[in-house]
Amino acid sequence: MSHVRSVAARFERIGAHSHIRGLGLDEKGRALPVAQGMVGQKEAREAAGIVVKMIKEGKMAGRAVFLVGPPGTGKTAIAVGIARELGPDVPFMALSGSEVYSSELKKTEVLMQAMRKAIGVRIHEFRKVYEGVVTDLEIKTTRHPYNPYQQVPSGARIALKTKKEERRLSVDAQVTMELLSKGVQVGDVIWIDAESGRVTRLGRCSDYRGEKVEGYDVEASAKVPMPDGPIVKEKEFIHTVTLHDLDEVNEARGSIFSLFFGGRETKEISPETRQYGDKLVKEWVDEGRAEIIPGVLFIDDVHMLDIEALSFLARAMESELAPILILASNRGMTTIRGTDVVSPHGLPLDLLDRLLIIKTTMYSEDEIREILKIRAREEKVDLDEKALEALVKIGVESSLRYAVQLMMPSAIIAKSNGRTKVLAEDVEKARKLFADVKQSVKHIQEYEDKLLK
Ligand SMILES: Nc1ncnc2c1ncn2[C@@H]1O[C@H](COP(=O)(O)OP(=O)(O)OP(=O)(O)O)[C@@H](O)[C@H]1O
Ligand SMILES: [Mg+2]
Repeated sequence: MSHVRSVAARFERIGAHSHIRGLGLDEKGRALPVAQGMVGQKEAREAAGIVVKMIKEGKMAGRAVFLVGPPGTGKTAIAVGIARELGPDVPFMALSGSEVYSSELKKTEVLMQAMRKAIGVRIHEFRKVYEGVVTDLEIKTTRHPYNPYQQVPSGARIALKTKKEERRLSVDAQVTMELLSKGVQVGDVIWIDAESGRVTRLGRCSDYRGEKVEGYDVEASAKVPMPDGPIVKEKEFIHTVTLHDLDEVNEARGSIFSLFFGGRETKEISPETRQYGDKLVKEWVDEGRAEIIPGVLFIDDVHMLDIEALSFLARAMESELAPILILASNRGMTTIRGTDVVSPHGLPLDLLDRLLIIKTTMYSEDEIREILKIRAREEKVDLDEKALEALVKIGVESSLRYAVQLMMPSAIIAKSNGRTKVLAEDVEKARKLFADVKQSVKHIQEYEDKLLK
């Protein structure tokens, strides 16, 4: 079984949340005060834990979760925690509302692609392979057609052995090149794909000793037992891809297997291609050759989306192959972008109606201190007692996010003063050099008439 390319959680901009390893819940789903990098925010974390359970049990289809709370209260952190809890087998795609407009693609196209990246397809494939331990390998060479002084491989004779039988095969130049490039030697267990000639080297055979086998005292290769059964066999391979991966391949009309060898540029995909892909996947599912794994699409700062994008999203949620949506926003009553309608969180009511809402609340001073300590450990910043207190104060007065962001500049300032320990004065200096949002707004107001419009 081989996992060619996994749809592991693709979470970008993770830097500030690298200390989050999960939701920090006990086996009964209760939030531990400090666990897995998570501090406080008990109710929101427990609610997120229930969402994870529902996703894993397949009971979340077509629903959406909405994380709401003031800036810096851990909405994005909780979404990262959910992704961690779901593990690498559930596709998790993260997108920020503003990203929808920063692309050359149409905004509905960006959203559509993001939705399809959040749906995994696990394909089971049977392929005919030659499998066995290499007991003999003889490479034939011939003169290079354009360079008479160079020898090139023209083919090979190879002997393969399993516990049941031994066979000699002759292979062509292409397979020979594969054998050479994979460094196949006598004593290796390999597969040769019957159709494509692709060679996979599984490792050294642990229970084969022949005269041509070189013994090493130290080896980096994996040890694998001698294969059982016949040399030629049907083997099951499992590839996990996303619907979007399939769309890209179908759009290029390439073979499905070209997708296991790297991607290509982003571009628009036609609706026909998507319909074709959906049809194909449904057929595979009906034939028992594939499973669909609904994943999560996380849209941070969802208030950045305008009415068109939001109605597209609401409509897309209803479709058969839709991922689970997780949205987050720190806005209260505000206008829906592209309209002059004021609505809670800048979202249309019909969308709001379908959301499971999770609230995040402001942190206490102690919780802020705890989070800053965890971040300091994560960023390997050595904070003096007073420096920590200075950051806690900034966290309380300004925002936790700002305090977290000042940590690294403070450490750099300390370093340029020849210290590894960060003192309160370094934090103070960093605070002067880097403005928080309130300061920058004030700054802009002061210079209103001098700034570019
Ligand atoms: N409960 C928590 N436990 C541990 N770390 C946290 C917690 N809440 C927030 N953090 C950390 O504090 C910083 C700010 O939090 P985060 O970015 O998640 O806030 P947010 O609610 O998404 O804010 P915004 O509305 O501005 O997007 C991040 O580095 C985050 O990882
Ligand atoms: Mg956020």
